[in-house]
Amino acid sequence: MRAMNLVAVAAVLMSGLSTAAAAAEPDGKALYARRCGICHFADGGGTWMLERRLGKSQALLESRADLQAPYIRLIARRGLNGMPRFTRVELPDSDLEIIAAYLTRSGPRP
Ligand code: HEC
Repeated sequence: MRAMNLVAVAAVLMSGLSTAAAAAEPDGKALYARRCGICHFADGGGTWMLERRLGKSQALLESRADLQAPYIRLIARRGLNGMPRFTRVELPDSDLEIIAAYLTRSGPRP
């Protein structure tokens, strides 16, 4: 009986832990949507500006295969024309790394 209870307690603890780990590691797509989407989704000012400057194929950051993490970090920290810079308080390094990994991921793109 006691062993059964321990197993049950362990199962509850472990499910709690994995939920906590998932919350601590926000998914890149969601973070990108929250921090960058307002300008970089289809109707955003960033998308519009990039289309004008670089052409339609470069407009949507999420569809690009040429972005490199150091460039994304640089633009996010310094800004670029109409793109505001993000301080480390506004956007912690850990969040920026997750976003950079999302934008430079390989594999199928939406
Ligand atoms: C307030 C609007 C706004 C937000 C928020 C924003 N951007 Fe931008 N971003 C822009 C604009 C506008 C440009 C185009 C600047 C230009 O080309 O003159 C741009 C350009 C860029 C570029 C350069 C692309 C290239 O090919 O040169 C990168 C990379 C980028 N943004 C990443 C991000 C990331 C990552 C985030 C979120 C952390 C973000 N942006 C949030 C407006 C925004």
